[in-house]
Amino acid sequence: MAKRTDPIGVFDSGVGGISVLRALLHKMPGENYLYFGDSANAPYGTRTAEDVTALASSVAQRLSEQGVKALVVACNTSTSVAMETLRKNHPELIVVGIEPSVGLAASHYPKGRIGVLATPATIAGRRFMYQAAPYPDAEIVLIPAPNLVEIVEAGKYDSQEADDYLGKLLHPYIGKLDALVLGCTHYPFVEKALHRVLGEQVAFFDGSSITAAETYRQLLEADLLNEDGGVVQMENSLPDKEILTLCMKLLGTKEDV
Ligand code: DGL
Repeated sequence: MAKRTDPIGVFDSGVGGISVLRALLHKMPGENYLYFGDSANAPYGTRTAEDVTALASSVAQRLSEQGVKALVVACNTSTSVAMETLRKNHPELIVVGIEPSVGLAASHYPKGRIGVLATPATIAGRRFMYQAAPYPDAEIVLIPAPNLVEIVEAGKYDSQEADDYLGKLLHPYIGKLDALVLGCTHYPFVEKALHRVLGEQVAFFDGSSITAAETYRQLLEADLLNEDGGVVQMENSLPDKEILTLCMKLLGTKEDV
């Protein structure tokens, strides 16, 4: 039986889900969190759906055994291919996923041209495209970014390497987009590089706030909200100290590891 003081489990293929953890902490600073990054197996987004489902299932099992009260799948790739399996395997948990926020971007730019930057697996799944249906005049441009996760995992999110990669990938779209959906939880960390390449006029959207709001809603409904915690624990499948240092840097605080 879950207790209010049990942590919220948050996971990603690596450090990207920390962008969602930041939004969760902003919305619910009194919760306890257990973050797991599967950096040893990152990237997920260039793997088969079967592989991603197996990896996500084993992380979910681990967090469930550690006693989390909810599971936030802070990975668009895992959400797009493994959500049904995770919900089926864990009826005891609140399970919340994240999707590229195409609907939010289209509601702001209903006649605009909206780029969706995501991993090849998320783009191939096209699961998020239903969100564009109410906005038939919005043009949705799908842009897979195969090696961007690795750049963030290496801590080079604000570097010449990031600028060079994005400059090449996004060259055809410079001056042609109204908005860009950051459809992978690693990408909010390359916002500065994206602005340098695309200019300041392009609006960015990501799903972290919507996910935090949905997690809050489900915890409230289950009477499991906690206002007296605030402990963040970080774990990673890589045994190196550097990855935990990077996690704390991305979170912007010194937390328990
Ligand atoms: N942060 C994951 C996502 O949102 C990255 C997936 C990957 O490792 O390729 O999709």
